[in-house]
Amino acid sequence: MSARRTSIHGSWSSRLAFVLAATGSAVGLGNIWKFPYIAGEHGGGAFVLVYLVCIAIIGIPIMMAEVMLGRRGRQSPINTMRTLAQEAGADPRWSWLGWAGVAGGFLILSYYSVIAGWALAYVFRAGSGMFTGVTADGVASIFNALVTDPERLLAWHTIFMVMTMIVVARGVRSGLEQAVRYMVPALFVILILLNGYALAEGSYDLGLRFLFDADFSKIDANGILIAMGHAFFTLSLGMGAIMVYGSYLPEHASIARTSITISVLDTLVALLAGMAIFPIVFANGLEPGAGPGLIFQTLPIAFGHMTGGALFGTLFFVLLVFAAWTSAISLIEPAVAWLVENRGMTRVHASVLAGVVTWVFGLLTVFSFNLWADFKPMAWLEVFRDATLFDLLDYLTANIMLPLGGLFIALFAAWVMKRDDSLEELDMGDGPAYRLWRFLVRYVTPVAVLIVFLNVTGLVDFGHLLGAG
Ligand code: TRP
Repeated sequence: MSARRTSIHGSWSSRLAFVLAATGSAVGLGNIWKFPYIAGEHGGGAFVLVYLVCIAIIGIPIMMAEVMLGRRGRQSPINTMRTLAQEAGADPRWSWLGWAGVAGGFLILSYYSVIAGWALAYVFRAGSGMFTGVTADGVASIFNALVTDPERLLAWHTIFMVMTMIVVARGVRSGLEQAVRYMVPALFVILILLNGYALAEGSYDLGLRFLFDADFSKIDANGILIAMGHAFFTLSLGMGAIMVYGSYLPEHASIARTSITISVLDTLVALLAGMAIFPIVFANGLEPGAGPGLIFQTLPIAFGHMTGGALFGTLFFVLLVFAAWTSAISLIEPAVAWLVENRGMTRVHASVLAGVVTWVFGLLTVFSFNLWADFKPMAWLEVFRDATLFDLLDYLTANIMLPLGGLFIALFAAWVMKRDDSLEELDMGDGPAYRLWRFLVRYVTPVAVLIVFLNVTGLVDFGHLLGAG
């Protein structure tokens, strides 16, 4: 065995703690807010199927690769990539991959925090009984009153960023590690409860058919890219978040087993959310393609009509805030770790600096829903005809930066790093499991990402093969 590195930032107390933290990172707004609304916009079933395939053949192998690189490098993604490139005798400019991750983290968190702010606002709306007996129109006007008011959005965004900075400043171990332990199971319980409501009161049949009947004529190349991008987004892959979490992972934990556990839990949460939301959408004559407001305009109807709805509604939005919180910290941890390593800052200084930068970027999203709602800077491109700054930020990060980041992580792990090194770090023996992993990251991931990119730019058209036309 080669000499092992240790992290200056400390490590998780156990394998379980890592699984909890990484699950906390993965399970977030992506599962409950984003997945249902993008599935709704892209026709449901076929989109969901593409997403599930991407999780299985791209997501899990890339997660293993990220954790492996992180644990071997034991530093921020920037320094980890530099160290590992050196170890493999490769170009030190691989550290740029870490920089791209830091940039991606800032951009994602800038809008993520604004949406988390909606969830915070909804805690109080649910708690005060505002949803009791509410109609679809009623909840739409509650939602619109919130997002069209820049001051309120700014206030909630600020509160959420402060919450994030506080936890990151204190180090992940004492606060969040404990929180996920209760949060993830509690979230499961509430989602199952919501499924009970959807089954009793919603159009459960229609909802499930929408979600699981794969009709490929309803999805186009752009939809396939969005499904793939979301597989990266929901598992927190492609920008170093899982890499930095992996850098705090104890020596003998199984990377394959933890990665699979995290991915399965994450996928279950997303599917349960979809199965709760679409029956309510159809039963109330709402539009599945309503966009980012979808869950904020459907779930309150369920809470408003079930016994104990005010209590469960409040609890649900509290848990959603927690889910977003445990994700947000993983989005700036790479930057914070780097500031501590290379700029000699304390964690407190680093967290404040990173948080303030993100907060400023967040203004772009805050104004996208009100003052600048009509500003469509890329309207000259058909796909972006209706895209606000928020939509563009989301598209750029989730659908372009993350898959590209994932592509380069795959190339590094399977082509640049020595086979013996990955074999040693994954520590699963040189059997069929290791070989399958290596085959997937070596060939399948890079080819899949490239085909999907080329397909969207119109250079290759495999839509016809799928019957999408
Ligand atoms: N996975 C989180 C979610 O689904 C969001 C997230 C956290 C993330 N860290 C990330 C997305 C890193 C991409 C990269 O809500």
